[in-house]
Amino acid sequence: MSLVDPAAGMGSAAAAEGGGVRREPLRGVRGMNDVLPAEQWLWRHFEESVAAVVTSYGYRQIRTPILEHAALFLRGIGEVTDIVEKEMYAFTDQLNGEYLSLRPESTAGVVRAVIEHHLLREGPQRLWYSGPMFRHERPQRGRYRQFHQVGLEALGLPGPDVDAELILVCARLWEELGLRDLSLDINSLGAMGERAAHRQALIAYFEAHRTLLDEDAQRRLHSNPLRILDSKNPQMQQLIEGAPSIDKFLGEVSRTHLARILEHLDRRGIAFRVNPRLVRGLDYYNLTVFEWIAPFGGKAPLTICGGGRYDGLFETLGGKAAHGCGFAIGVERVLEALRAVIPVQPDTCDVYLVHQADGSDLAAFELAERLRDQGLDVIVHCGAGQFKAQFKRADASGASYAVVIGEEELRAGQATVKALRDASVPQTRMAADQVAGYILEHGYAARP
Ligand code: HAM
Repeated sequence: MSLVDPAAGMGSAAAAEGGGVRREPLRGVRGMNDVLPAEQWLWRHFEESVAAVVTSYGYRQIRTPILEHAALFLRGIGEVTDIVEKEMYAFTDQLNGEYLSLRPESTAGVVRAVIEHHLLREGPQRLWYSGPMFRHERPQRGRYRQFHQVGLEALGLPGPDVDAELILVCARLWEELGLRDLSLDINSLGAMGERAAHRQALIAYFEAHRTLLDEDAQRRLHSNPLRILDSKNPQMQQLIEGAPSIDKFLGEVSRTHLARILEHLDRRGIAFRVNPRLVRGLDYYNLTVFEWIAPFGGKAPLTICGGGRYDGLFETLGGKAAHGCGFAIGVERVLEALRAVIPVQPDTCDVYLVHQADGSDLAAFELAERLRDQGLDVIVHCGAGQFKAQFKRADASGASYAVVIGEEELRAGQATVKALRDASVPQTRMAADQVAGYILEHGYAARP
């Protein structure tokens, strides 16, 4: 197999030989974003909060591959869903003919891994994951082709207690992050038989109004009528409003399941809205489904988290029957909400080491290592240059201190410490081995 670079164009050979032909710069793939260094503090803040909160509920991390057999998603998510029909990055591996897909979500992969490694033999599993997912959607605000999710899956537990627990985890995380004004929608999709009866009623209803259905809805009428309720087509909204709603079909067990979750939420003071129209976009759900929505002031609200119970998924994927319930948070969407509530934390370091003398880089590196031994973050100026230019870099780095090694300091085994942000700290020359103590004594800006 030979690979070609379709963007190479003419002149590339000349450029490769140093012929001076300028190449077109390559760009990232549409809908897939770079997370630049200035954004990292926000990601880290979120990731650290998640890890602390989920661990406090006993969830353990799992990492599954980004590539899976496409069949996992066809079976798991459902063949007549938007994700599987239109959004999967699925392809045939040119090396061995396997039909693979980048993961559009992680629930199916986690359940596959739990079946494959017999994890339920050890008892119920509380698992969490974090990573990139891929859906070939039309990129827009809050909707990307590569996006990130943090998800929790509670496996081997029938609920409703654990369903409530999962929602409490979310509530605690929002609280921890300082996100207020989020709203929670919850619904029950019922048990198998109830879903089947609802499905029949939907088919009958939409059949009776067939002429009002758009092309997508006509196609899904018999294969997946529930999806029609999810349609965003404004021309169909009135029709959808009048469609039979699942709550009329719920039996005693399903009602009690939902009622118990709501009791837990009431007890914890978590506000919710029971929304019988909430169906979710993946086929594996039964009983509980829920979504958290962030308002975003003047902008359109976004669902930042969605989940529910999926008691049939283990069998669909070839495992023994087992219960499952979970949710996933859209990281980019939560971060958009977070940016509005927490102040930007600029990148900082503790010390920028400025040096200018023959061989001063050796002394600078040595001193920097000593400072790091004491827990300080140090950038050593590289690439030589005048003091003035080096101090400019020191200032831009956000460092609290510049530590200077010039000719005289180098000769005497000393360094000059200059506080960059606090005028009350006197500039002082001292033996190199006293620098760390001096800085620690006078304090340095807290790092994010
Ligand atoms: P989902 O509703 O497809 O559920 O995705 C969960 C969240 O991921 C959404 O609420 C949204 O915040 C975010 N999200 C989805 N698509 C995009 C996108 N294209 N760009 C940016 N963010 C996006 C699931 O994926 C299920 N696996 C959740 C689950 C876990 N259910 C049970 N366990």
